Amino acid sequence: MPIERIKTGIPGLDEVLHGGIPRRNVVLLSGGPGTGKSILGQQFLYNGLLKGEPGVLVVLEEHPVQVRINMEQFGWNIRKYEEKGLAAIVDAFTGGIGEAARRERYVVPAPDDLPSLVDIIRRAAKEIRAARVVIDSVTTLYITKPSVARAVVMQLKKMLSGLGCTSLLVSQVSVTERGFGGPGVEHAADGIIRLDLDEIQGKLFRSMIIWKMRGTSHSMNRHPFDITDNGIIIYYDRTLSLSRR
Ligand SMILES: Nc1ncnc2c1ncn2[C@@H]1O[C@H](COP(=O)(O)OP(=O)(O)O)[C@@H](O)[C@H]1O
Ligand SMILES: [Mg+2]
Repeated sequence: MPIERIKTGIPGLDEVLHGGIPRRNVVLLSGGPGTGKSILGQQFLYNGLLKGEPGVLVVLEEHPVQVRINMEQFGWNIRKYEEKGLAAIVDAFTGGIGEAARRERYVVPAPDDLPSLVDIIRRAAKEIRAARVVIDSVTTLYITKPSVARAVVMQLKKMLSGLGCTSLLVSQVSVTERGFGGPGVEHAADGIIRLDLDEIQGKLFRSMIIWKMRGTSHSMNRHPFDITDNGIIIYYDRTLSLSRR
């Protein structure tokens, strides 16, 4: 029986993934600053909404109000789906402080309290019957205590795959780092998508590579991509070679 796949709907990415992300996979979306992690995560979530697949976006690094504005810039009106109960933003940023935060439906009072964060994500996912979940970023949850990174990711993974969700966990790495966010999380994840930004002869180039994806074959090439006013476009028929990184 062919496996069930979740189509990302991101131009080029489903080709690179030989059809999409296997359902229930918890995928690390890893990259340095400015590589497009947040945009890719939001685009994945929004494309699900367009197909009638509800989605939860957990924001730990930006105000939910700002996230809605950023998404709107790409033409992704998440608010419309929130009002219909088909999308949810979990505010794990404000701690409920401030006028705007009081209007949020899902607020995590103390984002470093993992059990309460997991509870609120679970509640949001159940209420809207989420098929997709994006957490931006998980790094925030363990940056000051790397020893718990694996435990944090495992706990999220149990909850998310238990609910049948297909998830992207944004993982921040520093500009020069070769890895994906530390051995604990890299091994715990079902998949790793790595985004890169490299300076070649005075110009920055974007590229992405699938390092790991349980349940499917995938392209083994490094693919160039662009960020446009409509979001990310991946050139699945092109390869970017980075010599002597
Ligand atoms: N409309 C746009 N057109 C082209 N590039 C854009 C646009 N909006 C943002 N970007 C690029 O996206 C980058 C931010 O992407 P983002 O997903 O927030 O990065 P990350 O989350 O990995 O830090 C910006 O630094 C900019 O280069
Ligand atoms: Mg980001």
